Amino acid sequence: MVNLSSFSSIHFLFYSLVISLSSTVICGGIETDHEALLKIKSLITRDPYGALTSWNDSLHLCDWSHVYCGKRHRRVTYINLSSQGLEGSLYPHVGNLSFLRTLSLGNNSFQGAIPQEVGHLYRLRQLYLYQNKFKRVLR
Ligand SMILES: *[C@@H]1O[C@H](CO)[C@@H](O)[C@H](O)[C@H]1NC(C)=O
Ligand SMILES: *[C@@H]1O[C@H](CO)[C@@H](O)[C@H](O)[C@H]1NC(C)=O
Ligand SMILES: *[C@@H]1O[C@H](CO)[C@@H](O)[C@H](O)[C@H]1NC(C)=O
Ligand SMILES: *[C@@H]1O[C@H](CO)[C@@H](O)[C@H](O)[C@H]1NC(C)=O
Repeated sequence: MVNLSSFSSIHFLFYSLVISLSSTVICGGIETDHEALLKIKSLITRDPYGALTSWNDSLHLCDWSHVYCGKRHRRVTYINLSSQGLEGSLYPHVGNLSFLRTLSLGNNSFQGAIPQEVGHLYRLRQLYLYQNKFKRVLR
């Protein structure tokens, strides 16, 4: 015999899980990536080689320097800003780049905390943060 009360509490657990997953996993669209990259740029206080100069609306963001989009879904999948002499801190909106597989910020002067939103990047396979001034704590 099916125990109805445990059956419905399993359903309840299942739906709560779906709801909590969909509230942390931001899928959005290319506008989400666009906003996230401009927020990230806004906290860079020094860009000696102009690595982020093309990060403006004269080009589609998939044509911005150091940014690559997936061919099929046209979402940002790869960002490589290593060794660009960048100074600044990392904006929590980085966690909204939900198609990102590789993020390399190595050998720059990023400071402050590594945003805990990086943990939302569930497709992330490669994360390079070496040689920066990040604090070792998550915020
Ligand atoms: C916007 O990006 C274009 C293309 O890289 C660049 O030539 C231009 O200088 C940029 N504009 C600003 C205001 O940075
Ligand atoms: C990032 O770019 C540098 C050179 O511009 C390259 O040496 C390095 O392998 C790249 N990193 C990744 C993770 O693709
Ligand atoms: C670190 O970046 C600087 C440019 O800002 C470059 O000259 C240097 O070769 C890089 N070092 C390594 C180990 O990649
Ligand atoms: C992106 O992330 C920030 C901070 O993590 C959040 O407050 C914001 O609502 C998100 N924006 C979008 C468009 O998903």
